[in-house]
Amino acid sequence: MRNGGGHRQLAGAQRTDGRDESTVVRTTGTITTVASDISIRPAAGADLPAIIEALGQQHFFAERFRRQQDGRGVLLVAWLDGRPVGDVYVWLERAEEWQLREHLPGIPLLNHLEVVDGMRNRAIGTAIVEAAERLLAAQGFKQVALGIRLDNAGAARLYERLGYAEWEHGHIETSYVVFLADGQEDREPEMCRILVKDLRTDD
Ligand SMILES: CC(C)(COP(=O)(O)OP(=O)(O)OC[C@H]1O[C@@H](n2cnc3c(N)ncnc32)[C@H](O)[C@@H]1OP(=O)(O)O)[C@@H](O)C(=O)NCCC(=O)NCCS
Repeated sequence: MRNGGGHRQLAGAQRTDGRDESTVVRTTGTITTVASDISIRPAAGADLPAIIEALGQQHFFAERFRRQQDGRGVLLVAWLDGRPVGDVYVWLERAEEWQLREHLPGIPLLNHLEVVDGMRNRAIGTAIVEAAERLLAAQGFKQVALGIRLDNAGAARLYERLGYAEWEHGHIETSYVVFLADGQEDREPEMCRILVKDLRTDD
């Protein structure tokens, strides 16, 4: 579970762009349609400068894009009004943590879910996770998993609302990867909860 740019790594591709009515947020007396206007799609090479301008973490995104080009994962980016507003990396490779390889062999991982500051709490994070799940389900994956730092209660609420549940094998130590200015990686250990979701539908 290599993290990137300050994210735990615990981490497939069908286009998921286009309007998605399921992401329209309705609140009492107000309709917030931000999420319905976003498009979510795998990053293209030409997108990288805009992604880095909006989200920073140049080395992380360059590295993830290379992995996507090698068919090792999918860097999904959410766009609003021509600008990136969030991302998630879908990790399709063998997991780095032995616990994941042992208990969840071949299960894809969500990594580095992020929504830009100032655009949070508008259901964009929810839409990104749902887009990743659709992408994985379309590729035939039955489950998806992710690691979440023990103190990240906000993200935990989001995932639990979306049907993710903690596995029964306890917390695991993962490495938190920080990409340094020269592109080198520095790793720090961190404890994570592992959340899993079944992607199968009843029908
Ligand atoms: C975690 C993160 C990606 C969530 O993104 P987000 O776009 O804010 O997520 P959502 O808007 O879908 O959901 C967040 C909350 O806003 C609420 N919300 C969404 N749209 C809303 C609206 N129109 N009106 C009121 N509330 C709304 C959701 O119900 C949710 O409530 P909760 O805090 O009680 O769970 C974002 O906070 C982030 O980038 N955090 C830093 C990185 C991080 O921790 N990543 C997770 C790693 S595992």
